[in-house]
Amino acid sequence: MRSVKSSVIGTKAVAARGAVVIVIFVQALGLEVASAQELSQPRTDEEIAKQEKIYRSQGADVPRGYITGRGLSDYAELLPTGFCGALGSLGSSDRWLDIGAGSGQAILDYYAPPKDDEAAGKKCAGPGDKARAVAMSIEDRRTDKWQQQAEQLGDDRIRYLFGRRLREYSPEELGKFRIITDVFGGFSYTEHLFQFVDKVLSLLEVGGDFYTLVPGVHLEDGKDKLGILYLTELEDAAGRPIKVCSWLKQTACAQVTCESKSDWKRPTEVIKIRKICSDTVVPRMKLVEFEAGYPPSRRFQLDQ
Ligand SMILES: C[S@@+](CC[C@H](N)C(=O)[O-])C[C@H]1O[C@@H](n2cnc3c(N)ncnc32)[C@H](O)[C@@H]1O
Repeated sequence: MRSVKSSVIGTKAVAARGAVVIVIFVQALGLEVASAQELSQPRTDEEIAKQEKIYRSQGADVPRGYITGRGLSDYAELLPTGFCGALGSLGSSDRWLDIGAGSGQAILDYYAPPKDDEAAGKKCAGPGDKARAVAMSIEDRRTDKWQQQAEQLGDDRIRYLFGRRLREYSPEELGKFRIITDVFGGFSYTEHLFQFVDKVLSLLEVGGDFYTLVPGVHLEDGKDKLGILYLTELEDAAGRPIKVCSWLKQTACAQVTCESKSDWKRPTEVIKIRKICSDTVVPRMKLVEFEAGYPPSRRFQLDQ
């Protein structure tokens, strides 16, 4: 992506020059001209294939930066204020979906909180009955601990779904949720950002909350430092930059709260979306650029 890895910038510059030459040549011939985005499709496919390799990596091949085992205390630190209290107050008939759950450690901690009374994870787990929890991951990263705990709890109290992306599940398969979380999961990784947010909102109960974060973005409070390496960039139809929170705040039937973290390693927007009525409508975005990584770098454009 433009502002990310320098080696790629060189490659992209060459690719972009190549694309310009092709466009001029085709125009000169009077043929129908494909858009520059269509011309870069093979490159996008290549990057998506690289991304697939990251998901499929196992053992020593898992890149160091691809972290899949964050626990509930990490979620408490990373997600918006209020997440812990909201999770702790769920009852046994409520449901929690963790999209991009990796090994599902946060859910394991929720059901078997650490002994330490002060641990943030313990506070999030709450004192009473637990909600049913669903972990979702593209690849199967279940551990023996997961298998044992799922068996002990029985009755599908915790479920682990893998082998598909969020958008590939039907509403009937998943049902509705009181809380949905995403910590460096689909929201940071998907190449279908609009479809992802649209699906998340459709799966929330009215009054339910989506807690997430997105690293390497233009911050709502405008306090990002100079020389930032952006990972997710959004733009309007004319190519002018849009902030991720401004985009989300245009969603009908959703109340969006953003906390800008300018002092984190990457400028990060910590986001809570409450579904306030059933007919949510998210402004459509289409993918313009994608480069594999953990998380990948992506550029999207408003599609209207
Ligand atoms: C970097 S790991 C994060 C795991 C965990 N949340 C943690 O913090 O340790 C990314 C996870 O997101 C999942 N993921 C990425 N895109 C997804 C999508 N569109 N739908 C479902 N899961 C997705 C991956 O399969 C993986 O489980």
